[in-house]
Amino acid sequence: MKNLFKLLDLTKEEIIDILDLADQLKYERKHNIYSNPLQGKNIGMIFEKASTRTRVSFEVGIGELGARPLFLSSSDLQIGRGEPLIDTARVLGRYLDAIMIRTFDQSTVEDLAKYSKVPVINGLTDFAHPCQVLADLMTIREFKVRFDDLTLCYIGDGNNMCNSLIVGALKVGMNVSIATPKEYEPHGDVLEFTKLYPGKFSLVHEPEKAVDSADIIVTDVWTSMGQESEKVKREMAFKDYCLTSNLLKLANPNYIVLHCLPAHRGEEITDEVFENNAEFIFEEAENRLHVQKAVMLKLLK
Ligand code: CP
Ligand code: NVA
Repeated sequence: MKNLFKLLDLTKEEIIDILDLADQLKYERKHNIYSNPLQGKNIGMIFEKASTRTRVSFEVGIGELGARPLFLSSSDLQIGRGEPLIDTARVLGRYLDAIMIRTFDQSTVEDLAKYSKVPVINGLTDFAHPCQVLADLMTIREFKVRFDDLTLCYIGDGNNMCNSLIVGALKVGMNVSIATPKEYEPHGDVLEFTKLYPGKFSLVHEPEKAVDSADIIVTDVWTSMGQESEKVKREMAFKDYCLTSNLLKLANPNYIVLHCLPAHRGEEITDEVFENNAEFIFEEAENRLHVQKAVMLKLLK
């Protein structure tokens, strides 16, 4: 593995390897075992969008591996004043050992790697959120022990989270059922990918159908970063796509709910459903730290 652009690029074995290493790192952190395996490395973190979890979990994780994190906000970088990415990338590649970037276009992540020539990690684009979904898979395995025979259901916008969940869950062996409004379906490349898994994937427009007998139910915001001008239109389109206790009666009785956060209670999830599942949701947030440390070790060690 040279970069983490999107889960479509990873094999099942590579994903499982990352999860196994993340489990080990979680155990070691709980027992205060640190060995500075990336001592002397410098890892940049470029943010073109806001973040709480990604910023803090990467910064803490990089430090715990013995490397130095550099927080680089696009509003402070010359990128914000128009310096081309290909020049920025060629400069940063001379200072840094790896770069994490949160940006808009998927192509920006891949261009950054091409021109910087150092490993690049996608910390969220409009297309994908691979670090989050690796943390989600880690959390599912922690609470459910296995992947086979489980059904992951996603209700809401066919956005970056939905795209990455479909790919990650199918690759590790889960069944996937999705409910989105017609105009908000997942990306075409992802729908094309699902054809490799006949009988394991379904896309419908009725949340009740998708949630039927599901083991893991996931949702995400209706309006992602960068789509703020569509907020009102989206509230109308998604009004029937809220995770409520009533809807979840159709799921497998042992279901768990995950949410990448930040959550908008009263929109994609009720306060009751959120709080009943807080144990899983905040473990999921913690697992970002462990899984990203595993990714950085795979890329740099
Ligand atoms: N889930 C997630 O990526 O959170 P942040 O936007 O706070 O980084
Ligand atoms: N879909 C959301 C995820 C936030 C972590 C967004 O892109 O804003």
